[in-house]
Amino acid sequence: MNQRIEQYSKEIETFVITNQQELEAYRIQFLSKKGLLPELFLQFKALSNEDKKIAGILLNNLKNKASEKYETFKLTLDQSEKTLLQDLTLPADSIPQGSRHPVSLIRKEIISIFSKIGFTIAEGPEIEDDWHVFSGLNFPSEHPARDMQDTFFIKKNPDILLRTHTSSVQVRVMESQQPPIRKIFPGRVFRNEAISARAHCIFHQIEGLYINENVSFSDLKQTLLFFAREMFGEKTQIRLRPSYFPFTEPSAELDVSCTICGGTGCNVCKYTGYLEILGCGMVDPNVLDASGISSEKFTGFAFGMGLERIAMLKYQVNDLRLYFENDTRFLRQFGSAY
Ligand code: PHE
Repeated sequence: MNQRIEQYSKEIETFVITNQQELEAYRIQFLSKKGLLPELFLQFKALSNEDKKIAGILLNNLKNKASEKYETFKLTLDQSEKTLLQDLTLPADSIPQGSRHPVSLIRKEIISIFSKIGFTIAEGPEIEDDWHVFSGLNFPSEHPARDMQDTFFIKKNPDILLRTHTSSVQVRVMESQQPPIRKIFPGRVFRNEAISARAHCIFHQIEGLYINENVSFSDLKQTLLFFAREMFGEKTQIRLRPSYFPFTEPSAELDVSCTICGGTGCNVCKYTGYLEILGCGMVDPNVLDASGISSEKFTGFAFGMGLERIAMLKYQVNDLRLYFENDTRFLRQFGSAY
């Protein structure tokens, strides 16, 4: 017994381990259930009590030696393998980056289209008074047109409210400067509406205003045609339908040929071939005069569009609520579009 212990001890010392296979072979030979050491322990049981005293010590030492060697080599091999697996020339893992919100992408695109034809940006407050949202825009008090836009009031008499459209910025700009005015007003607007797939109480608009001498309806039409083709593609057709806004006269609604079917008719355009995208018109002379701009000398046009609506058409996402929930599974999909 003692001789075998000594022999195994030498074998353990000289066993060469340079890789995982050799390590495994070593484990099987000495430490596994059917290995040499468990076998020795079985034989040990059969020894006389006298013999057990010395053999026991030797056997335990042998066992410790065997498993220590195993653990040491396992550790070094695992570590060197890890270093081998790391190719230091590989590019680093990419850090997940945020992405622009789809409404922000649309806003950016619209701003860049209008900046090509000389429009600059102006902004106004979200909390407004009655004058800038309604009265200055030719909404007489108690006029039913005020009901077109359900308003969140903060205070009554004098009324302080959340602006229901960015047309309020028109008034602020006209009050503060004389023509020529060529500006767009991006911003958030608020309406007291029940939230559904098609309506939200907060959304975004971009308003446009051009005032100068001799501005005509054909200038408006040409500007909108340019915008529609830049935004939705060269082949886009436009159509103007008569409409009503208190602050423009005449007023119109702009339709573009359907971005999906190109005008032949599909379920997105409800088989009309056209999609409504914005309201527009020639600035009502009353509005010019109320803001201190002579309606004798100047004319102008204005238009206003909802960004979520344009995003819906462009990205084919038909539930408005998705734009407000900040669900990263939705937002991530716009990651590559910059
Ligand atoms: N302010 C209008 C709306 O919110 C849009 C509009 C703007 C219409 C400018 C005409 C001119 O519906």
